[in-house]
Amino acid sequence: MNLHLLPGPAPLRTVVVGAGGMGMTWLRAVQAHPGFDLVGIADLDERRARGAAIRLRRPDLTVTGDLAGQLAQAPDVCVNITPPAAHFAVSSSALSAGLSVLSEKPFAATLEEAVALTRLAGERGRLLMIAQSRRYEPGLERLRDVARTLGPLGLVSVEFHRAYRDAGFRLAMDHPLLLDMAPHTFDAVRFVTGERPVAVSATEYNPPGSWYAGPAAAIVAVEYTNGVHLGYTGSWCSEGLETSWTGRWRVSGSHGSAAWDGETAPVAEIRADLPPAAAATTEPGQASADPAALVTAALDEFAAALRGGPPPWGEASDNLLTFATAQAAIESARRGVRVEVDELLARHGAELGPKAAR
Ligand SMILES: NC(=O)c1ccc[n+]([C@@H]2O[C@H](COP(=O)([O-])OP(=O)(O)OC[C@H]3O[C@@H](n4cnc5c(N)ncnc54)[C@H](O)[C@@H]3O)[C@@H](O)[C@H]2O)c1
Repeated sequence: MNLHLLPGPAPLRTVVVGAGGMGMTWLRAVQAHPGFDLVGIADLDERRARGAAIRLRRPDLTVTGDLAGQLAQAPDVCVNITPPAAHFAVSSSALSAGLSVLSEKPFAATLEEAVALTRLAGERGRLLMIAQSRRYEPGLERLRDVARTLGPLGLVSVEFHRAYRDAGFRLAMDHPLLLDMAPHTFDAVRFVTGERPVAVSATEYNPPGSWYAGPAAAIVAVEYTNGVHLGYTGSWCSEGLETSWTGRWRVSGSHGSAAWDGETAPVAEIRADLPPAAAATTEPGQASADPAALVTAALDEFAAALRGGPPPWGEASDNLLTFATAQAAIESARRGVRVEVDELLARHGAELGPKAAR
């Protein structure tokens, strides 16, 4: 793709669309980032956008009900923090207006939408990056380093259990866990293992006592290249013994295994006849990063790419693979069959970027 780079060192003129719970985290991060110049806030609920401007102590900001109302300010980029059902409408209008877009995960509501947005970004020469902020957890980077010392990997297990009551729009979604939460894990497994998803088998259901309209629990098996397999069990209505928001991990290779609670440093145990894993530690680790630090890391990569730096993690034509894993899980659960990721992508006419296409 011929990416339209932004000339000069001036901060990126930025409109944030969506001023809800996560929107406030992004707004504070954008405001504090020297590479960004926050010029406006759009939210369907204009009172919410105005309230956000007041909380930021920025009464000068332009507040509107939609992105169109912000275009007169000639923004360079749109940060899209709306719910998944609105991602396509907001990102497509921003790209069509010539803006680059940094969007919250998940990519979109459907694979059709994600493929269309990727194509539109390519046609317009604009950067579309899906912010997979959990990928920037310092513990996840340590886990990847440790995983590289475990020999050929065979099995990754991730358990995700939360009793998430204040779930907002997710309470009414058709696939709250598989669409809105599981992409974090599917993306992080790609980061840790460096492997590509091949096929997915899944069950999703609503456990007894669930307060969600759609299935809030799932059991997913993902096959990756080079014989790596993921076993994912997740629930958003799991009372007691909750895991961290990044889940509880175990990674096993032929030389040993690593475990990570998603918050502190990972630990590893290597076969006794082999040297210990240098990157592993048994010392108490750092706490997980706060949400503002995670989204700031995404802002750093996005801004650098618009100045000619490397494609960021989450670039659309690569994030299609992460999103397709979640969509394959939804289809597998619906049809009761194993779904091949390449076949699903081909059926939707998806064109992967050079990194994902490997
Ligand atoms: N990375 C993370 O850890 C993390 C955490 C929470 C949420 N998220 C993601 O952030 C996004 C937003 O989640 P949230 O919890 O802030 O939701 P929210 O419901 O609290 O806020 C969404 C806001 O978007 C506004 N909105 C909806 N449609 C719009 C449209 N078409 N145009 C303009 N504004 C619109 C709503 O009025 C609301 O103010 C979701 O994609 C979610 O998955 C990510």
